[in-house]
Amino acid sequence: MKPAARMELFQGDITSLAVEAIVNAANESLLGGGGVDGAIHRAAGPELLAECRGLGGCQTGEARVTAGYRLSAAHIIHTVGPVYSGSPRVAELLASCYRNSLLLAAEGDFDSIAFPAISCGIYAYPLREASHVAVRATRDFLAQSPTPRKVIFALFSPAAFRAYEEALAQIRS
Ligand code: APR
Repeated sequence: MKPAARMELFQGDITSLAVEAIVNAANESLLGGGGVDGAIHRAAGPELLAECRGLGGCQTGEARVTAGYRLSAAHIIHTVGPVYSGSPRVAELLASCYRNSLLLAAEGDFDSIAFPAISCGIYAYPLREASHVAVRATRDFLAQSPTPRKVIFALFSPAAFRAYEEALAQIRS
C-alpha cells in the first residue's frame, strides 16, 4: 500500500483511540504539562509519571516509549517538539519528532500509531506549516518501512483537521 494510503485523519481526543501507540507532545522533562500532555497523563494514570521519572528527560526532536497504563493504547511514545521560532531549524526538529517516533514504533513492531499536532499548541507552531512537515516526514518514513502499517493524525480542532486534510491532499495529488 502506498504511504499516503496508510495515513488517516481523526478529529477528537487522542486518548480515546484504540491504537497500539499514541504519541505525546511532551517537554524535555517528560514530567507532564498542559495540553495533550496533561490529557494523556490524566487518562493514563499516575503510573505513567512514575515511569517517566525514570527516563531522565528527552531532548527536542527525540522520542522515548512507555507503557500506556489505563489508556486503550498499549504504548505511549513521548516526543519533544520545538518551540516555534520561524527559523529553518524548527522544521528539521519537528520532522525529527515524527521520524524518531515512527522509528520506535517500527522497532517495537507496533501496527498502528496516532500523532497529535506536535508543537501546534503551547509551542505555537503554525498549523499549516506543521501539517506539511508532519505528512511529508511520515510519508518518507513509511516509504521505507512496512511498520507501522497505519498512522492516524488525531486533530483536536476543526481548523487543525482542515490543515491536515489539505496537506494530505497535496502529497496524494
Ligand atoms: N487530543 C488531541 N490533540 C490535543 C488534545 C487531545 N486530548 N489536547 C490538545 N490537543 C492539541 C492542541 O490543540 C494542539 O493542536 O494538541 C496540539 C499540541 O498542543 P500542546 O498540547 O500545547 O503541545 P505543544 O504545542 O507541543 O506544546 C508542548 O505543552 O503541555 C505542554 O508539557 C507540554 O511543555 C509542553 C508543551
